[in-house]
Amino acid sequence: MTSRNSDHFEPKQAAPTLEQLIRWRRDVRRFKTDPVPDALIDRLLRLADLAPSVGNSQPWRILNVKDAGVRAAIVRNFETERQKSAEVYGGEEASLYNKLKLAGFDAAPVHLAIFCDRDAAQGGGLGRQTMPETLDSSCACMVTTLWLAAREAGLGLGWVSIVAPSTVAATLGVPESWKFIGYLLLGWPEEEHLDPELERYGWQSRTPFETRYSELGSADPAPSANAQSAPAQAGSVALVGAGPGDPELLTIKALKALQSADAVLYDDLVAKPILAYVRPGAKLIDVGKRGYRKSCKQPDINAEIIRLARQGLKVVRLKSGDPLIFGRAGEEIVACQEAGVPIEVVAGVTSAQGAAASLKVALTNRDHARRLQFITAHDRRGHLPSDIDWGAVADTSATTVVYMPKRTLAELTEVAISHGLDPKTPAIAVANATRPDEQIFISSVGAIAAALDAAHPEGPVLIMIGEALRHATAHDAAGHASSIAAALGALPVTT
Ligand SMILES: Cc1cc2nc3c(=O)[nH]c(=O)nc-3n(C[C@H](O)[C@H](O)[C@H](O)COP(=O)(O)O)c2cc1C
Ligand SMILES: C[S@@+](CC[C@H](N)C(=O)[O-])C[C@H]1O[C@@H](n2cnc3c(N)ncnc32)[C@H](O)[C@@H]1O
Repeated sequence: MTSRNSDHFEPKQAAPTLEQLIRWRRDVRRFKTDPVPDALIDRLLRLADLAPSVGNSQPWRILNVKDAGVRAAIVRNFETERQKSAEVYGGEEASLYNKLKLAGFDAAPVHLAIFCDRDAAQGGGLGRQTMPETLDSSCACMVTTLWLAAREAGLGLGWVSIVAPSTVAATLGVPESWKFIGYLLLGWPEEEHLDPELERYGWQSRTPFETRYSELGSADPAPSANAQSAPAQAGSVALVGAGPGDPELLTIKALKALQSADAVLYDDLVAKPILAYVRPGAKLIDVGKRGYRKSCKQPDINAEIIRLARQGLKVVRLKSGDPLIFGRAGEEIVACQEAGVPIEVVAGVTSAQGAAASLKVALTNRDHARRLQFITAHDRRGHLPSDIDWGAVADTSATTVVYMPKRTLAELTEVAISHGLDPKTPAIAVANATRPDEQIFISSVGAIAAALDAAHPEGPVLIMIGEALRHATAHDAAGHASSIAAALGALPVTT
């Protein structure tokens, strides 16, 4: 460990906000084996050392355990205690407990044993004569600070308590006055998650903030043990548009809904930085295809929204873009209405608007467009819908925005051309509109499918078609497109 002065630290990227750090901080049990530079560990521990402590006693004692033999003894201690603890559980709970990964000793490069010196003279006993346990609380403040500082540096921390404290103390040979606080594992996380591992594995979810908060002196009675089953207030649902990605495109109403929500159910397509605006303490539920534990089927989502609202919670159903545009909002609205749960809709900026703004192109340019139409290239089974009005798509005075085009674009353009759409009509694909990884591909109807296939962009894509797009003036867009256009001879003339 170095002892360099580490007060001056220049983060390489824009620093995350405190709120983002708090939200991303996870208890990490899956680490990469890559080493952590000594200077970084030094810096983090010195930051943690600035934590508040009773009487300024700084009672924490930190042992950086590097010895392989000692580490192995701690792992044996953990295994014994883990098995003993498993005996407390029965049936399904026992089998779930046994499946949980409760530590990451194997890969974590840094092991820290944390103790509290109950005899710490520093602080002159201030504050702890009435409450001696404030020494332990001070150590927990130190660990929390370390947790957040580690997260800011991209590191993860796992707190292990499934070890016998007396055995740890004996293994490490620490003074008798040192009380064991926890064994911390530190390293580069293998995965990033917005929700706790125990929640994902179905052991324990977070519960509503309201069940832990009460106001003294308010007219309302304090929450009772059965507050959840008998809410004082009826819950409600807001179907909120998250916009295409840039959080600054949230409406003020959407922001207010996020900041007062008790539970937010969000889709895969909702850009993750938007979740940083959700009220701290709100339950965050990923109902996207990859994240939802049980299922992400629409009826299950409807049922969950209603269940939470009936607990008296303010539920936000957060959808990308505008909830009423290709968002299956109708089904959720009807489900709430049928269940007697009040529902409101907060409009959002649809992705077509975000993409048009990025391109600086008027979709209804009066010299070219008499109509603006949004179509989907994706039916219930993922096929090109059979009932598209092809005459309307071929109309030279229309601008068409195609949502969900990725799988069927070649077929769509082919059929449109066969219905009279000029293959030279400008066509622009925008991937990840308004997000930092936005990509723009300028092409023509005849060439756009091949261009997109060649580029194979990750993330959501939409296609814009029509003469109005000749006025796409974004120079960066032209830059992105030039290689494709040169290969395909398809760059529309911009005026
Ligand atoms: C005092 C303390 C002791 C903990 N002990 C363990 C442990 O022994 N094993 C484990 O897997 N997680 C342990 N955890 C992590 C918690 O399970 C975890 O923080 C919680 O599930 C919330 O998840 P999050 O930290 O990702 O938000 C501990 C956390 C704290 C604060
Ligand atoms: C299920 S629809 C949801 C549309 C959303 N309600 C809206 O108003 O934008 C998903 C499609 O929206 C489009 N989309 C959503 N966000 C996008 C973005 N940031 N960039 C480009 N296309 C996007 C893509 O065509 C994607 O396949």
